[in-house]
Amino acid sequence: MREAPCIMIIRPTSEGVHILAPAKLNLFLEVEGKRSDGYHELTTLMVTVDWHDELQFEQTAGDAIVFTCDHPTLPLDADNLVVRAANLLRHATSTAQGAKIHLTKRIPSQAGLAGGSSDAAATLSGLNTLWDCRLTQADLANLAAQLGSDVPFFLNGPAAICRGRGELVTPVPVLREYHFVLLCPPTGVPTALAFRHLKLSGHRRSLDNCLNAWMAADPQRLGHALFNRLQPVAEQLVPRLTQTRDALKSLGPLLDGHLMSGSGSTYFGLCRNGAVAHAAARKLQTLEQGIVRVVACGP
Ligand code: C5P
Repeated sequence: MREAPCIMIIRPTSEGVHILAPAKLNLFLEVEGKRSDGYHELTTLMVTVDWHDELQFEQTAGDAIVFTCDHPTLPLDADNLVVRAANLLRHATSTAQGAKIHLTKRIPSQAGLAGGSSDAAATLSGLNTLWDCRLTQADLANLAAQLGSDVPFFLNGPAAICRGRGELVTPVPVLREYHFVLLCPPTGVPTALAFRHLKLSGHRRSLDNCLNAWMAADPQRLGHALFNRLQPVAEQLVPRLTQTRDALKSLGPLLDGHLMSGSGSTYFGLCRNGAVAHAAARKLQTLEQGIVRVVACGP
């Protein structure tokens, strides 16, 4: 059994609102083409997993957004998506209310796990509740898309096909539990850089195999159908990522498949069950290549 939920969880508290904001993995990511606005057209299958940042939202007497974070190097100004999300919601609803927001950061940054996007989605949902704005899911999705391509997905977890820039979200059911082992190397990959260095040629991979395996709830088939167009680009930009990939590869039959998530730099292995994922994690830990974590997603 999973120890924690794999979706965004919103809980009212005596002081305000508490949210668990999950990380995501991309099980499939194809880049269909470059758009005239500079973004890339994507087809991706994303799932949320039970690894969370935590956010606490509290009412204040004044109208300021007071943001604090336990992570020493994250920006606390509008460079942080949490602050941007709070300001955007305030502007969209013309509210004069303020809030104290505290972020406990657990999901690594620039890791392909979209922790910052998840925090932004949590902020929209949390302040919508705290301030009693009564925006609909559609209103929130619209604001989320203005904050980043991955943000709308987190309003729709635990699994979805995302198209367009990533903001066109079609939820898909999760019919069984899936277990993953993650290896997050210390070097991140900036998303914009990965897309900028991508050279598109040849045919595009169809989502069909991966989606059929997902809908058949068959981890072995799913393991064979994992695909990420951005992985070779990230490995060119950060050559040490090939070591991360090789570490996963060295686990052999412990994994049904392995892949880099998003634009990197986290790699994940898909495992038959939780016990196998923990056995894989113990082996990865001995290699000392980065943060090792077992996660799951499920219904
Ligand atoms: O949307 P987001 O701010 O997360 O994207 C970060 C950067 O990644 C964009 O500025 C863009 O360079 C690149 N990107 C892209 N196509 C996408 C998503 C992101 O080119 N679909």
